[in-house]
Amino acid sequence: MAVTIKSAREIELMKEAGKILAKTHDELEKFIRPGISTLDIDRKGEEIIRSFGCIPSFLNYNGYPASICVSVNDEVVHGIPSRHHIIKEGDIVSLDAGVIYKGYHSDAARTWGVGEISPEAAKLIEVTKQSFFEGIKYAKAGNHLYDISNAIDAYVRPFGYGIVQDLVGHGIGSHLHEDPEIPNFRQKRRGIKLQPGMTLAVEPMINMGRCDVAWLDDDWTVVTEDGSLSAHYENTILITEDEPVILSLIQ
Ligand code: MF3
Ligand code: CO
Repeated sequence: MAVTIKSAREIELMKEAGKILAKTHDELEKFIRPGISTLDIDRKGEEIIRSFGCIPSFLNYNGYPASICVSVNDEVVHGIPSRHHIIKEGDIVSLDAGVIYKGYHSDAARTWGVGEISPEAAKLIEVTKQSFFEGIKYAKAGNHLYDISNAIDAYVRPFGYGIVQDLVGHGIGSHLHEDPEIPNFRQKRRGIKLQPGMTLAVEPMINMGRCDVAWLDDDWTVVTEDGSLSAHYENTILITEDEPVILSLIQ
């Protein structure tokens, strides 16, 4: 599938989708506390998304059974919410959510610490978030796609963390996953040339230990192979001639 350039109308719809998703994450941040289950987070997230007249895009996507991916501690992404999984003080919780507004998608993820967390965990969360911002410094027309990947890699590498390679970012628009794939690690090639109107989901997934990941028997939950903590940060962005517009963040 070719990389699509969005029209002005499509961009307006994606801006609206992004705003709603940003609000959803802000609400969920306030909701997270020790004692609730990961299913409580999913229910709350679905309720917020639907209250804006949006559809949670992950629900039933390739059979995924929930609206919000809730990935705790050594879970990297795609954790399946469960009423048996109770959040506790000191956990780090990655929430990944997607919404569809009038046929257009937005996709974003955040990692939150619950109560008091270790300084090492806080650092991992901060570096993962910052790596997104380092990457998108290169997300402008005329640059190449892998300038983003290389910038994320160059920023993260000195911390000694493992950059997940088995999962990548992606184009987004009328589908959740569109071309191109956006790796978060160094590439030998330059990748496609970025053009105004491209919309991308950039999503570094960073492990405190090694980069290797494994899939649990539920066929969804991705965990670090060495059991180390993992963080995830993602936004949907719009490429322009100038600075990128971060659609899924209220600034
Ligand atoms: N942000 C995730 C991604 O880009 C979406 C979760 S996949 C789903 O792959 F199946 F849970 F929807
Ligand atoms: Co995504």
